[in-house]
Amino acid sequence: MRIVIYISAFDPITKPHIETAKKFLKNENADLVCFYVDSTNNSDTYHREQMIKLAIKPYRKFVLINNYQRLMRKNKEYEYIIVENDESDRYSDLFKSGKISVVEKKVCSYIFNNGLYAKKIMSSYINEDRFKHCLSVADLCLKIARGNNLDEYKAYLIGLYHDIAKDLKKEELSIYMNIYKPYEIDYGYPVWHQYVGYYYLKHTCCLRHKKMLKAIRHHCLGDDSDTYSKLIFVADKLDPLRNYDSSKEIEIACKDLNKAFKIVKSQNKNYLESRGVYDCDNGRDGL
Ligand SMILES: [Fe+2]
Ligand SMILES: [Fe+2]
Repeated sequence: MRIVIYISAFDPITKPHIETAKKFLKNENADLVCFYVDSTNNSDTYHREQMIKLAIKPYRKFVLINNYQRLMRKNKEYEYIIVENDESDRYSDLFKSGKISVVEKKVCSYIFNNGLYAKKIMSSYINEDRFKHCLSVADLCLKIARGNNLDEYKAYLIGLYHDIAKDLKKEELSIYMNIYKPYEIDYGYPVWHQYVGYYYLKHTCCLRHKKMLKAIRHHCLGDDSDTYSKLIFVADKLDPLRNYDSSKEIEIACKDLNKAFKIVKSQNKNYLESRGVYDCDNGRDGL
């Protein structure tokens, strides 16, 4: 029996990793490919191993191992070929730079649902100022969630992801809007990114948390009564990086989100009416 020990960072495992493993079976005339996570640069292997399990599930000749030396000691009669650090790892970096399609759908879903590489991915989608805004909103979401007994991690990720589509050009947003066709399309271009963000996270990134998706879909208008929808609406508008003092409202939000939601909703309505515009994110200071 010929066994390939495939050692790589798999951070995360990508489609090219799988293609490489298939080539091992063919070119090395191997019977089995054993995936082993290289922990040299990152000792936390749990998520990477979970993602490998998802990616290799359809292939009966692929297995995940956590100690190849023991395997070799126990089964001395087999022939082993050890392959380390192949170039497929560069596709992992490509994924983290926003090229979502290089990973399998199930792996992509695992990544977004667990918030893996979230900051790196977000920084590749939006400009530096917007990224700072998303980080700041994520921190505020977490703070408000803590004060209102909500899921802090879910709240943080909603804040981080909420403007994922904000930097797309009008033409690109328009393409998504024509596929998705939300009935609120008439709200106009500045609001479109909430629908496109929702659609992209749901269908391309395979994010499955319904409340997170719903919150992102309503973050501009604040027109949903779910707690997480109120949370992101409030945190987005009260972001301390915006050019006005929101400390009083933040204090209220950390104690009573519903009360803060009513206040912020009313403030936002007055502000937009005074300017004669309806631009959720480009109010106040243009973030
Ligand atoms: Fe937004
Ligand atoms: Fe925002």
